[in-house]
Amino acid sequence: MKSITVGITGASGSVYAQKLLARLNASSDVARIDLVISQAGARVVSEELGLNVAGTDRRVVRELLGEDSEKVAVHSANDIGASIASGSYLSDAMVIVPCSMSTLGAVANGVSRDLIHRAADVILKESRPLVLVPRETPLNVIHLENMLKLARSGVRIIPAMPSFYHHPQTIDDLVEHFIHRLLDHLGVSHEQLTRWEGSRKRGSRE
Ligand SMILES: Cc1cc2nc3c(=O)[nH]c(=O)nc-3n(C[C@H](O)[C@H](O)[C@H](O)COP(=O)(O)O)c2cc1C
Repeated sequence: MKSITVGITGASGSVYAQKLLARLNASSDVARIDLVISQAGARVVSEELGLNVAGTDRRVVRELLGEDSEKVAVHSANDIGASIASGSYLSDAMVIVPCSMSTLGAVANGVSRDLIHRAADVILKESRPLVLVPRETPLNVIHLENMLKLARSGVRIIPAMPSFYHHPQTIDDLVEHFIHRLLDHLGVSHEQLTRWEGSRKRGSRE
């Protein structure tokens, strides 16, 4: 049973965070989810999903999941003394989804200005899986250099770039397929119906 840390920062794509949380919460592989939302993250969630996730009370979980869940602990981004700020806390993996270029830059340069940065720094120093889901376009040289630095440190950079080869019919299809990739990298099992099996095999099914 895994313990996963989820950071939500102020990049566009909060629907990915919402969907991932739902899948982690429903997974029998996952015992605990530590959730941290930056101030900008809460603002973008409000803009994009119309949900109020400011604060750390249970309402945050109800807003994102539609119900409360004992699995999810919500931490304040200002609480630099929270459990996940220490390497002695056994989080199996961390994902920052979506990941702003600001947070990406902080993690790339070892700057821990809030709990999301610190938790990511700890995951890195403990050599545990860290997944970042950046979203920005176009990318400048600083963004690219920071991503290269992180990739060289073993961080999995999985940009919020939906794919189309699985013939999505709805935005939900796009998001769902992307979430499956994140679950793969977090080591959380799932049943993915759109896993690519090769074009010839696919053609033979049709
Ligand atoms: C509606 C909205 C959308 C934004 N989209 C992005 C984005 O896609 N990528 C990005 O890097 N920053 C984006 N930003 C800017 C970040 O929120 C800003 O840099 C913020 O300081 C990030 O702080 P954080 O990393 O602590 O969440 C957006 C801001 C707003 C208000």
